[in-house]
Amino acid sequence: MEPILEGTVEVRSYLGLADERTLADDVLDGLTRPLKELPPKHLYDARGSELFDAICELPEYYQTRTERQILRTQAKPVVARTGAVELVELGSGSADKTRVLLDAMREAGTLRRYVPVDVSETTVRAAAARLIDDYPGLAVHGVIGDFERHLTHLPEPLGPRLFAFLGGTIGNFPPGSRRRFLRGLRKVMAPGDHLLLGTDVVKDPHVIEAAYDDSAGVTAQFNLNMLHVLNRELGANFDVDAFEHVAFFDRKREWIEMRLRAREEQHVRVEALNLDIDFSAREELRTEISAKFTPGRLRGDLAAAGLELVELYADPDKLFAVSLSRRR
Ligand SMILES: C[S@@+](CC[C@H](N)C(=O)[O-])C[C@H]1O[C@@H](n2cnc3c(N)ncnc32)[C@H](O)[C@@H]1O
Repeated sequence: MEPILEGTVEVRSYLGLADERTLADDVLDGLTRPLKELPPKHLYDARGSELFDAICELPEYYQTRTERQILRTQAKPVVARTGAVELVELGSGSADKTRVLLDAMREAGTLRRYVPVDVSETTVRAAAARLIDDYPGLAVHGVIGDFERHLTHLPEPLGPRLFAFLGGTIGNFPPGSRRRFLRGLRKVMAPGDHLLLGTDVVKDPHVIEAAYDDSAGVTAQFNLNMLHVLNRELGANFDVDAFEHVAFFDRKREWIEMRLRAREEQHVRVEALNLDIDFSAREELRTEISAKFTPGRLRGDLAAAGLELVELYADPDKLFAVSLSRRR
C-alpha cells in the first residue's frame, strides 16, 4: 500500500499579463472580422462560472445529468481498468460530477491526488476547499491556466493518471483545433495514462437547441455575461441590454452556435485597445460553438491525435457519450 498523503491543497496560477493580452488580442482579432467572434473561455469569469453551474441544473440541459448517470454506472470499471492513482481534470469547473470518479478511486484504494485545471480561479479554489474536506488525505494540486497552453505545468505524475475532460467541453473547439488540442494532450500523457472524454451526441436538433436556449433565460444571461467581462476587463462600453442571446443548431456542421445579436445599430468603444467597433442592426457576435459527435467523428478525432478508443459508454437513450482512450 502506498503511504496515505496528508490532505493538502496547492493552487498555482499560470495566468498573467500574457492572458490579459490574450483577451485583448482575441477582441482585437475577433471583433474586427467579417463574422465577429470571441472564444468561449471568456464566458467564464466568477459570475459566468456560477451561471454555468445554474445551467447544469436546468431541465433542458440534459448533458450534465446524463453524463453523471453514465459515470455512476461506469466509474468502477474505468478505475479498475486504468489503475489510476491521480485524476487530472481539464476545465474542471465546480468538480461536482468528478466526485463520482473520486469515490470510485477511493473505494478501489488508489486515490492519491486530484489535479483540476481551469481558467476560473475562484471555481478551482472553491472546489479544492470542498474536496479536501470531503476526501480526507486527498492532495489537490490546482492549476489555474488555459488547457490549450498550460498543460506542461502539470505536476510530476504520482503513478498512472486518468485525464478527464467532461461536460462536452471538447465540442467548443472547431474540428481542426480539436484535433490539435487532443494531439497536445496526448503529448503530455504517459504510456499508462488514460483519457475519459465526455462528448455530446448528434440528436434531434430541437432537443439540442432547447438545451442552449432555456425557458428561464439562464443561458441568455450566461452568454450576455461575456459583454460584462469586456466592459470590466477592457474598459468597453457595451450596452448589454441592446444585445440578445441566439442559439441554433447548424445541421450541416452538426454543432450548436451561441451568438449575441445587436437589437439595433451599436457603436462600441473599447478603451484599453483604443478600438471602435460598429454593429449593424441584427449583426451577430459568435461566442461559442459546441460540436456534437457520432461514434465515427469521435474515433476519427482520437485516431488523428494518436489515441485509441478503449471503451465507449452511453446512456440508454444515447443522449451523451463518455469514451475511454489511451495512447496508441
Ligand atoms: C462547459 S464547462 C464544464 C465544466 C465541468 N467540467 C462540467 O462538466 O460540468 C467548461 C469549463 O472549462 C473551463 N474552461 C473553458 N475554457 C478553458 C480553457 N481554455 N482553459 C481552461 N479552462 C477552460 C471553464 O471555466 C469551465 O469551468
